[in-house]
Amino acid sequence: SERPRALSGIQPTAGSFHLGNYLGAIRQYVALQETHDAFYMVVDLHAITVPQDPAELRANTRLAAAQLLAAGLDPDRCTLFVQSHVPEHAQLGWVMNCLTGFGEASRMTQFKDKSAKQGADRATVGLFTYPILQVADILLYQADAVPVGEDQRQHIELTRDLAERFNTRFGDTFTVPAPHIVREVAKIYDLQDPSAKMSKSSATPKGLVNLLDEPNVSAKKFKSAVTDTDTVIRFDEADKPGVSNLLTIHSALTGTTIPELEERYAGKGYGALKTDLAEIFVAWVTPFRERTQEYLGDPETLDSVLAKGAEKARAVAAETLAAAYDRIGF
Ligand code: ADP
Ligand code: NA
Repeated sequence: SERPRALSGIQPTAGSFHLGNYLGAIRQYVALQETHDAFYMVVDLHAITVPQDPAELRANTRLAAAQLLAAGLDPDRCTLFVQSHVPEHAQLGWVMNCLTGFGEASRMTQFKDKSAKQGADRATVGLFTYPILQVADILLYQADAVPVGEDQRQHIELTRDLAERFNTRFGDTFTVPAPHIVREVAKIYDLQDPSAKMSKSSATPKGLVNLLDEPNVSAKKFKSAVTDTDTVIRFDEADKPGVSNLLTIHSALTGTTIPELEERYAGKGYGALKTDLAEIFVAWVTPFRERTQEYLGDPETLDSVLAKGAEKARAVAAETLAAAYDRIGF
């Protein structure tokens, strides 16, 4: 293929993706299908770095795949698969473990955050080496671009370092991927606490918009979003973070620019913006929920999409692994 290659992974989150996941990541995956030879995987190997219930993990992996398809990933235009279906990830992961310095791995700040959350005694070696498996994930596909959030920048730097180290020691084998995010992505904030990123681990569940919740539950969350005591609808992230967040979401869902929205809402109250946004979200999410349910209700189709995706992914991954193994002396 002439198109540059993109690779991204998404965790099999319990229950549902939220609006931040969609506007910050998934929507970008859908757009990249048009310009890139794109590989997307549900990263179940990464999920087990923290304790998982087997039945829930299996269900959440399928749920993640169903939502990605419902959001617009098209198996004819991209490769969608489950990480554990492609054994080369674990195999190249081991090789990369053996190229990484212990001190180098210890500098990964995400481990410090995540292990602190787990409790130091409960954090596993898998959680520690997680970024190194992520390196293997990317290098297996010779990815040029890695669409990730800012929090992953350090892991992409590690990927570049290890690709260059391997290439220098054993001969040119891996593409060194782009150091950072492919394009600006929308960052979505909590509707109740607009100083915090919308997150599945939100402290204020009313500020978290889950895509598979009943639409009227989400509509209420938009209508009771925290704004400020002023009345002017203007984009100003420092002084008006709540209103700015609502404008960002409105703009992302409708394609209307923020200046156009400021003009449209001139002289109108926050209530009008919130009510419109609730309606816009419900109109978008209703067909999304229906498509997700269709995929979940047709396990044969979902299995067949994921099996074909794994086959396409393996064709690339196996070739890369074979070249790496050969150079190492296996
Ligand atoms: P969470 O922060 O809820 O735990 P994840 O870490 O699983 O979500 O993120 C999955 C993807 O969604 C990542 O690409 C991440 O950058 C993106 N993402 C998560 N929350 C947001 C947000 N509030 N705004 C924009 N993108 C987000
Ligand atoms: Na996160």
